[in-house]
Amino acid sequence: MKNISTRMPDRYDFVIRGATVYDGTGRPGFVTDLGVAGGRIINIGDLGETKTDVEVEGRGKALAPGFIDVHTHDDSYLLSQPEMTPKVSQGVTTVVVGNCGMSIAPLTNPGPMPHLFDFLVDNPARCFRSMGDYFAYLNSHPAAVNSLTLIGHAMLRFDCVEDLNRPATNKEIAHMQALIAEAMEDGALGMSSALCDPAARAAPTEELAVVAEALTEGDGIYTACLRNEAEGVIDAIEEAAAIGRHAAVQVVISHHKCRGAVNYGCSVETLRLIDRLRSQQRLSLDVYPYIAGSTLLETEIVMMAERTVVAWSESKPEFAGHELREIAAEMGTTVAEAIPILQPAHATYFMMDEADVRRIMTYPHTMIGSDGLPSDSHPHPRLWGTFPRVLGRYVRDLGVLMLADAIRKMTGLPADEFGLKNRGRIAPGYYADLVMFDPLTISDCATYENPTLPAIGIDTVWVNGVAVWRAGQSTGNRPGRVIRRQETNRAKG
Ligand code: CU
Repeated sequence: MKNISTRMPDRYDFVIRGATVYDGTGRPGFVTDLGVAGGRIINIGDLGETKTDVEVEGRGKALAPGFIDVHTHDDSYLLSQPEMTPKVSQGVTTVVVGNCGMSIAPLTNPGPMPHLFDFLVDNPARCFRSMGDYFAYLNSHPAAVNSLTLIGHAMLRFDCVEDLNRPATNKEIAHMQALIAEAMEDGALGMSSALCDPAARAAPTEELAVVAEALTEGDGIYTACLRNEAEGVIDAIEEAAAIGRHAAVQVVISHHKCRGAVNYGCSVETLRLIDRLRSQQRLSLDVYPYIAGSTLLETEIVMMAERTVVAWSESKPEFAGHELREIAAEMGTTVAEAIPILQPAHATYFMMDEADVRRIMTYPHTMIGSDGLPSDSHPHPRLWGTFPRVLGRYVRDLGVLMLADAIRKMTGLPADEFGLKNRGRIAPGYYADLVMFDPLTISDCATYENPTLPAIGIDTVWVNGVAVWRAGQSTGNRPGRVIRRQETNRAKG
């Protein structure tokens, strides 16, 4: 093919030879060379005898833009475990943090945190007064991956609303709006909410809609962990969409699923509704490739799940990884009696239909997001396995998706949805966020029983042109950057 380049440097930092390039647009792979200098992709094409400091043999390997994990809870993990091994070992080079209504900032009014926040930050001292403070800290203590940050609505409520069990007053809403405006100015991309969670449950649709008005000017994105993912899922999608329309902002429905056996198959209806809404507004969604979910240990969810495994329990840490039924038997209680004894706790719930997972995953506007919970002692395997599982199980083994399309859902599509400039594609001038992997062997190894095993088949991962994962281990490099809203296509306002 003809060479496409921005400029010809005297020397490349590295050249990858003969890999099959999937450029992130969904276009089929093509064999070529790729030259990187100064953290950017400079040249794609036959690079012949060009000078380079490092030659990388790419024959037989797939080369893709680094994966963008659009749904994470890595806010404080970026600081405490900056190698970000669960993510770089999967080929992830950028994470979106601050999802499900919970973010590490802003916290202007520290006090005892509700247990809801346990998984995000171990103590309020780990929170930051403002997004600006968080970004400054992360810039001076960089992680291996890039990050984009959302403001958590539950965090705003915790900071501004006197009593979390009632709707916010007008004064409290104005306070939340002011904090959003400040955080957007600092570089946050938008706001997330989880109207199913205890700190936000009492917030009516109108509260969210008015709070979200503060996102309009900066074209903030609104990510919604729905109020209901079971019988009420249709109404909950309508609610998230209405909030987006009211504030004229883009909506992303988080980890879309239909919970509970009576709702199996419901994704036919939810996707039909999403199609209809998309004709009126900007709206997309993400999914993780598993039939089990993971969140707070709650009776209501236990009752609809086929099986529940405790992910962590503060009062009974020895039961992490055990089935709730077995725990109850061991304690000599009923399952219902065991739940309060284990609190505060998280659980993994088997409560989805495989056909729904596949239908949602293959929907053209669905992105891939792990929703991994890095502080659980026995986490859901999605934390370590999401991206290789899509590429191994769903692309290669089951043929549910084409490889180029699956890669698009992890790269070009999220870059477009979140407005990233110069990331999410392999093209001249783009940042050299890259993953090289073997499409014949790539597989997730993390299981429900052994959830923290790194994937296999990921060869090398580069972030901003610097290798962060190679030959099955972290390189220790930390080239990740904080991507502020002002550097994206959401820069207006
Ligand atoms: Cu989440």
